[in-house]
Amino acid sequence: MSRILYKNLKGAFTGLGFEKKEGRKVSAEDAGFVKGPLHILVDDVSKKILSVSNEDSKADKVVDCTGLVATAGFVDSHTHTLFGGARWNEFFLRWSGADYAEINAAGGGIRKTFSDTRAASDSELKKKFHVDLEAMRSDGVRLLEVKSGYGESIEEEFRILKLIQELKKESAIEIELCSTFLGLHAIPKTTDEKTWTLLAIAALEKIKNENLADFVDSFPEKGFFSLDSAKNFSKAAIALGFKVKFHADEMTHMGASELGAELGAVSVDHLQKISDRALELLSKSSTVATLLPATSFYLGIDYAPARKIVDSGARVALASDYNPGTAPNASLLFTAMLAASQMKLSPAEILCGITYNAAAALAKSKEYGLIKEGYSSKILLWDLSTEDHLEEILLSGTRPIALSTQA
Ligand code: NIG
Ligand code: FE
Repeated sequence: MSRILYKNLKGAFTGLGFEKKEGRKVSAEDAGFVKGPLHILVDDVSKKILSVSNEDSKADKVVDCTGLVATAGFVDSHTHTLFGGARWNEFFLRWSGADYAEINAAGGGIRKTFSDTRAASDSELKKKFHVDLEAMRSDGVRLLEVKSGYGESIEEEFRILKLIQELKKESAIEIELCSTFLGLHAIPKTTDEKTWTLLAIAALEKIKNENLADFVDSFPEKGFFSLDSAKNFSKAAIALGFKVKFHADEMTHMGASELGAELGAVSVDHLQKISDRALELLSKSSTVATLLPATSFYLGIDYAPARKIVDSGARVALASDYNPGTAPNASLLFTAMLAASQMKLSPAEILCGITYNAAAALAKSKEYGLIKEGYSSKILLWDLSTEDHLEEILLSGTRPIALSTQA
């Protein structure tokens, strides 16, 4: 066994209060700052934290952390990271009046990424993925969700899911990956909603048997899929034992957040157009409300009513939604800045949103999101110049320091 000691930390945000409150209505104290000198002992084999203590302990290797502050590794719980091509031009097209659904109907949008992804070879897709992954890693992401959904046929969806499966093995040391079958994303030109929905439902069994996805997701939205299609698809997934997610109430209120809470979804994501009834349901359920402020920034649409959602008592996560169209920016720290400046969330709410609650949105809040014995050793170390630690981390654009010895 190889034990590494991160010795003499200036302090650490353990997040223990986030756990106590189930990630609801968290306050500054819940970020659980423990003042140093603090020592974190980790097991480099199991990659777990063995102890967090003001007492020194014996180790095989010691990393001097004098002056550094620790947080849990960040979690990005909603991304579309594996895709071919780019769609930078659409940003400016929208400013000249083109609407997101219209661009897609005309063969741009998701439909363009369908063809760009099909045209890219496996190795091209993987190469680009690794470049993005490196940027995410340097931002502090240690657990990452990746969706399919850019397959123009079910065969293409299988290709993408299998690629994510391979990438899971390649990237497990630095960033652990979770995969999601986004079976209902956009309707390929060659088919119709009913046919595609049936094909996606039929694919679920093989995906389950071959363990190709951890979650199942859909995009009920005007110009994409109806709530009924999303409901049938999600119910079929649940019957097979999948946990489901929804792209919910992003541009139009369709009631997907209500549906998600009723079906016990692991998360409902977006929520710009969430209803009061959905808020009420989410405040009483364990379904995580995942907010994606970068999407609102790039689409120029309203931000989700984050203050209201947090204050209702829902569990709120924040994620990048990284994709080539609506959020062409892989930085979770950029998302955190938007949550601060545009959503007016507090430092503790944001930290909880990119650690503990984001881990909950991936059903992993017993492994990721806290600095606690038994949790992941993929902690972040910060070299800060002020005593306003969380504020500086979230606002300055600073990055966690890279340690070659980091477990
Ligand atoms: O979460 N809304 C649907 N899916 C993505 C966008 C995908 C795309 O435009 O390529 C989203 O915003
Ligand atoms: Fe998305």
